[in-house]
Amino acid sequence: MDSIIVKGNGPLNGQIPIAGAKNACLTLMPATLLSDEPLTLTNAPRLSDIKTMSALLQSLGCEVSQLQDGQVLVMSSHALDNHVADYDIVRKMRASILVLGPMLARDGHAVVSLPGGCAIGARPVDLHLKALEAMGAELELKEGYVHAKAPGGLKGGTFEFPVVSVGATENALMAATLAKGTTVLKNAAREPEIVDLADCLRRMGAQIEGDGTDTITIQGVERLGGATHPVVTDRIELGTYMLAPAICGGEVECLGGRIDLLGAFCEKLDAAGIEVTETDKGLKVARRNGRVRAVDVTTEPFPGFPTDLQAQMMALMCTAEGTSVLEEKIFENRFMHAPELMRMGAEIDVQGGTATVTGVERLKGAPVMATDLRASVSLILAGLAAEGETIVNRVYHLDRGYERVEEKLGNVGAHIERVSGQ
Ligand code: UD1
Repeated sequence: MDSIIVKGNGPLNGQIPIAGAKNACLTLMPATLLSDEPLTLTNAPRLSDIKTMSALLQSLGCEVSQLQDGQVLVMSSHALDNHVADYDIVRKMRASILVLGPMLARDGHAVVSLPGGCAIGARPVDLHLKALEAMGAELELKEGYVHAKAPGGLKGGTFEFPVVSVGATENALMAATLAKGTTVLKNAAREPEIVDLADCLRRMGAQIEGDGTDTITIQGVERLGGATHPVVTDRIELGTYMLAPAICGGEVECLGGRIDLLGAFCEKLDAAGIEVTETDKGLKVARRNGRVRAVDVTTEPFPGFPTDLQAQMMALMCTAEGTSVLEEKIFENRFMHAPELMRMGAEIDVQGGTATVTGVERLKGAPVMATDLRASVSLILAGLAAEGETIVNRVYHLDRGYERVEEKLGNVGAHIERVSGQ
């Protein structure tokens, strides 16, 4: 298994291009199942999760071609010949459940294995299933698979999510585009990836209003056509690289960055003493002098502070002046990076969903273990600020969500290299 070796050094300076959003692409790809005509996605990120979703779609009979070094995906579902999403692929990635709604909406039946994914909590899919049931789906759980049927087609209905769920909103939104009548989704997720999905579905001919608010109204249509759609900027990759100069000092311009994707996060950076300015190419981030100030963070659904940036923010707080309290409200087991950061000299006390971080002057390099996708990159960020060498082991999680991380950080002056394992 590969490792990443990081050596702490001075300030970082230069530009980092931000890719298309993994989480948007993973919901845009299954949208191909809603139509016979081709769906083309541009600005796609080159990640192993995207390859997993391609393999899943291909197993169902979709044609998937990668053009321009993987940045353009052309998909066609005109010849779907299998409606079973197999455990062997689905277990690799939780987002696989997103094929359920579209397949069911288009053909009235689907069988999908219950998913696996990052080990950051129980992460059930009950809300995906309840929302589809509200549209008339008949569901049965047998031997680890969801067997779904909608013999006369899905029908519009009103569903209020008891908890805000990004994935369940996406599944229901896709399914509702082909349901008979009007569907109203209440307490829907408002993430930019939902708006991006709705934009793409509208290009395909769907009638959707209210995306980006907590109530989405979908008027079902008979059929959807083809479309070409650019994937929105990855706000989590953006936030991660904005933290690199915040931790190491220097000035980095994140190309393609937008404040509206990360309002709550930018407010926290400002409070910590980091300068963020909009440029015509993206966002420029600078830490000019001294240590950052400790700030408290609570993760929340969008537009709140994203849970997917909590681990990276903790890495910043490890060397801040003062004590910060980080509260994780979305996932119950998302502090697995804390003991690894403590191996590097961080002072962190975790009690349930709350981590109290007392900043130290300097972290020290150490061998550490990547436990999930965002935890992996938080350890790299911490390593950039640490004295000596940090070896991040088990980086396969990283490749699920960050393309060319060594190149992107290396180009702004970081000492970082990948060592291939056996
Ligand atoms: C998506 C993102 C993930 C991010 C998360 C929260 C993708 C591919 N992944 O995950 O990176 O961390 O949003 O912003 O887009 N829940 C239930 N029942 C369900 C579904 C969810 O109880 O059926 C709970 C979850 O356990 C969690 C909360 O709802 O506590 C939010 O999860 P959700 O928004 O669904 O996350 P994902 O869509 O899986």
